[in-house]
Amino acid sequence: MKICVVGLGYIGLPTASMFADHGHDVVGVDKNPAVIKALNEGKIIIEENHLDELVRRVVEKGSLRGSSVPEAADVFIISVPTPITEDKRSDMAYVVSATESILPYLKKGNLVILESTSPVGTVDTLMVPILEKSGLKIGDELFVGHSPERVIPGQILNELVNNDRIAGGINDASARKITELYKTFVKGNIYETDSRTAELCKLSENTFRDINIAFANELAKICENLGINVWEVIELCNKHPRVNIHQPGPGVGGHCIAVDPWFIVEKQPDTANIIHLCRDTNDSMPGYVTGRIDQILKDVENPKVAILGVTYKPNVDDMRESPIIKLEALLRAQGIEVAAYDPFVKGKAGITNDICEAARDSDLLLLGVHHDQFKELDFEALGKIMRHKNFFDTRNFADRARAEAAGFEYHLLGKN
Ligand SMILES: NC(=O)c1ccc[n+]([C@@H]2O[C@H](COP(=O)([O-])OP(=O)(O)OC[C@H]3O[C@@H](n4cnc5c(N)ncnc54)[C@H](O)[C@@H]3O)[C@@H](O)[C@H]2O)c1
Repeated sequence: MKICVVGLGYIGLPTASMFADHGHDVVGVDKNPAVIKALNEGKIIIEENHLDELVRRVVEKGSLRGSSVPEAADVFIISVPTPITEDKRSDMAYVVSATESILPYLKKGNLVILESTSPVGTVDTLMVPILEKSGLKIGDELFVGHSPERVIPGQILNELVNNDRIAGGINDASARKITELYKTFVKGNIYETDSRTAELCKLSENTFRDINIAFANELAKICENLGINVWEVIELCNKHPRVNIHQPGPGVGGHCIAVDPWFIVEKQPDTANIIHLCRDTNDSMPGYVTGRIDQILKDVENPKVAILGVTYKPNVDDMRESPIIKLEALLRAQGIEVAAYDPFVKGKAGITNDICEAARDSDLLLLGVHHDQFKELDFEALGKIMRHKNFFDTRNFADRARAEAAGFEYHLLGKN
């Protein structure tokens, strides 16, 4: 089968490569010339475990190649970005332009699959009216649907194969065709449904996690007021066989959990009350942490804070929607000097890879992200170059005993 994948990012490129590795003839389309140039040389410009080896193999074999424009195929897969705007509404411009770009190449019997995470109704009310311009009868001559992704960066190739997935069709025949296609390499179960259900499932999965984290963050605030340690509360609660409370922290980042709930709120603003409140709760955390820092540093003149870790999750260089960036801006807005250190983020202005440079003459070290290496902080050495030895752990991660042994005053989010 010939497959045309439009959008070769973290989702599109692994998907295209996987199909190419399982007997299909795949053309990958991207509007970024650097992506296409690299692909046609058998290389990649994103970081994902083992993807470079797979891409090299399928490009050398001739089953995957890159192109700046789509071409005729049996199947079209759209995996372009779906970001949110400043006012928390979905920006569907990429999906619209990608759908329009395949229009001239569509023919009878084709299947079009949206993989981008999208608000409910994207397939049937946004894409279908565009696809109808092909003159093909939707659901009869042209099959359309949504099959969302559940992969986690770092494990994408493994999870593409082993996760269960949803095949949401505009009609039963479309769902069936999506299932048949993905069965090529998916070992997990594939569940068929309609496209609107599939859209809401994807959004609900990430919203479930956002709500759980918001609960943990609210518990952290409650525990601070009551003088109880939230981390101990959550650990003990989770000994219950049917309880799994997530972890609190300085906020929620990334391009999924911090974004997808807004797609539900956008469509149902008067009904999605819990979802909206939880988004606001998680978005309040950088401000809440700033308040704690103000308390810790209230007697310090011209304070300097050194932030350890600016990414949205540990052990990666991804800063998208990172709450630490928001925290940094809030501190600066109060006139607090801020230095940011992150061992994973290279070549970014304002972020050093030298922890001593960040910590020198600072009054507080703030642990923002639990990168593994922060378990091994050299508190003795850091304490010697700081003005005041304060440590604020927003992740309950650092070695408190060693910090205190080195003379640090240790502060913890979720415990006053
Ligand atoms: N990355 C993840 O872990 C993940 C997980 C689940 C779902 N998703 C969803 O998958 C979708 C894609 O995410 P991603 O992380 O792969 O994005 P990405 O930014 O890594 O890649 C998107 C690619 O699409 C290209 N592009 C944009 N418009 C185009 C067009 N009109 N024609 C051709 N190429 C175009 C861009 O140049 C880019 O290379 C999003 O909706 C995202 O929410 C991502």
